[in-house]
Amino acid sequence: MDVALSLHKSAALYEQAKTLMPGGSTRATLFRKPHPFYVSHGEGAFIHDVDGNRYLDLANNFMSLIHGHAHPRIVEAVSAQLARGTCYSMSTEAEIAMSAALQARAPSFERICFANTGTEAVLFALKAARAHTGRPLVAKVEGCYHGLSDFAEVSVAPEPEAWGDTAPASVPYSIGAPQAVLDNVVVLPFNDLEKALAILEEVSDRLACVLVDPVPSRAGLAPAGTGYLQGLREFCTKSGAVLIFDQVMSFRLAHGGVEEYFGVTPDLSCLGKIIGGGFPIGALAGRSDVMEVFNPQSGRPKVFFGGTFAANPISMNAGLVALDLYGPQEVSLINMLGDRLRDEMNDWLRASGIEACVTGAGSLFKFHLGRSEVHDYRSAWVNAAQRKITADFVDALAMRGFHIIPSGLGCLSTAVTADDIDAMIAASKDVLQSICSR
Ligand SMILES: Cc1ncc(COP(=O)(O)O)c(C=O)c1O
Repeated sequence: MDVALSLHKSAALYEQAKTLMPGGSTRATLFRKPHPFYVSHGEGAFIHDVDGNRYLDLANNFMSLIHGHAHPRIVEAVSAQLARGTCYSMSTEAEIAMSAALQARAPSFERICFANTGTEAVLFALKAARAHTGRPLVAKVEGCYHGLSDFAEVSVAPEPEAWGDTAPASVPYSIGAPQAVLDNVVVLPFNDLEKALAILEEVSDRLACVLVDPVPSRAGLAPAGTGYLQGLREFCTKSGAVLIFDQVMSFRLAHGGVEEYFGVTPDLSCLGKIIGGGFPIGALAGRSDVMEVFNPQSGRPKVFFGGTFAANPISMNAGLVALDLYGPQEVSLINMLGDRLRDEMNDWLRASGIEACVTGAGSLFKFHLGRSEVHDYRSAWVNAAQRKITADFVDALAMRGFHIIPSGLGCLSTAVTADDIDAMIAASKDVLQSICSR
């Protein structure tokens, strides 16, 4: 059954937006055809658009709102800080409290620096690894997204004809990426330790770091095998390269982040999203000897860390409350609801013979239409026609009041209930059935 919402105000706003911003939006990720939805407000697990429609929010501003919208304790903490000023060119106690809260969660977080985005956290991690090792090369995994800096963008979304035969090729993402960047990035396959190690061994004396997201959203959102991460750990220990876990999205998986979840210890971790309590944030945390490259005590540090709004007290205070509200119980509750969504959907998809699957871990999930098994970027890859089917699925869910990201990605916040998840499962089945019978 087709369902349609009224979206007249959003459509009109988009007409105006197109005259002001390229394509009408600052964030390319928010674009959807024929136009983005414009939000009026959010409350708990729900957002409301300007046309008066309400959606269960399973996108949570790209996985950053771990407690949904406008949690009263975060509103209270931020309001109190607002009245005292938003940022100063002096340090604050909130920065210390926030560092201590993070340090208490994971043994590898020996030292911490704050930035404003996950992009910056990754950028500083790569600089730190180069400065610490004195080596130029960065190894990253095919299809993994690590923000928008030049090196991190390599091979984020290569088309099959560019994949390379033996080792994955270094493929530019933005047009204009300099060859020097591509030459300094080695690309690894995900979840294939033998092939990854063969590539790494070739460059080990010039390698500064191995950067990996253990549950990469754009490489299928299939969790890494523990053996894969452990193998990378052993290689880095042996070769002296820095092992960097990008936990910007996946820190939510356990109270102590992916280090606890997978039982493998990185040298550096990039953090962001949920640790800001809904405000801009990025952080780099890790081994104190590596983080020492940022130490300004004896004059100019090896790598300069800073930023006008880095460690601003609004993000620090909001983040502190968000972390406080996200204890082991809350983590396991939303992880269980995530299991329920994935397991019920996958059982049903197998039984109905529909070629699709739902990957993910904990409270993260991703629908793959046209693929029944996904374990890396290549097995998740679908062509434009198949991507359009996913977009249709996401649109049809929105028409039923469920908001996920156009690529089929979503997450749970602590504001959702088991009933919300059951409603999402029912709506997903309904939509998939009607799409597959077209
Ligand atoms: C794994 C990962 N790393 C880095 C980033 C970049 O973070 P930000 O958007 O805050 O720059 C993202 C954002 O989606 C991400 O998912």
